[in-house]
Amino acid sequence: METALFQDHSLHQVDERIILALDFQTKEEVMNCLASLENQVRYVKVGMELFYAEGSAIVSFFKERGLQVFVDLKIHDIPNTAKGSMKSLAKHGADMVNLHVAGGVAMMEAAREGLEQGTSAGSKSPLLIGVTMLTSSSQQMMNEQISIPGRLEDAVVHYACLANQAGLDGVVASPLEVPIIKQATRNDFLTVTPGIRTVGSAFGDQTRVTTPAKAFELGTDYIVIGRSITQAEEPAKAWADMIVSIREGK
Ligand code: C5P
Repeated sequence: METALFQDHSLHQVDERIILALDFQTKEEVMNCLASLENQVRYVKVGMELFYAEGSAIVSFFKERGLQVFVDLKIHDIPNTAKGSMKSLAKHGADMVNLHVAGGVAMMEAAREGLEQGTSAGSKSPLLIGVTMLTSSSQQMMNEQISIPGRLEDAVVHYACLANQAGLDGVVASPLEVPIIKQATRNDFLTVTPGIRTVGSAFGDQTRVTTPAKAFELGTDYIVIGRSITQAEEPAKAWADMIVSIREGK
């Protein structure tokens, strides 16, 4: 039986909501990975590992191949530098970029301004997404190391509200936090959720984790998935199995 998700969204649309994290050092490794996935991927994430190794040209490399691109550089700096960084980043044609909400409202507003200034006339600005708490962080780590007291969920919701106030399009969080974020902000405030593991795959360094199907059931707009697919023995099968699991709500 199909879940509500698939009654409302075609498979094609769901493909566009699965962002594959390409955490590789070289374009060759990326090409091998995409080839092993038999062109099933529509949206990719370029993180620091690939961007620092291959430079900004990697963004147009993907765009020329018809893929949507999330550039995940997690900017966190003084407002003036954040603004300049976003102005430069906007020129590369990404569809989504991000920063740390912990940089504060002034930094987020400056970043938004930079992004708009850097976007060429007639083009759409990339979606600007704020990182709340990394999905590798636990409440204990947040309390004891970052020195933020209280519940992790409360900190995530507080950051989401700040990001909404600063005019961001959405936040990065764990899928487990999507319902409380939507409730505290607005239903169309986007949620982009790493911390995704297909059934049976290793958690690795992630702690606030769930499956792709559960993430969509919780109302996420985009899932970000990396190693469960890219490090699988048969990536194409892992991807196809994931699509079936989402379809069946398992
Ligand atoms: O391999 P895995 O599925 O854990 O990859 C998750 C990806 O999402 C990584 O590229 C990581 O940098 C990114 N990410 C994250 N948590 C955040 C923001 C981004 O795991 N809060």
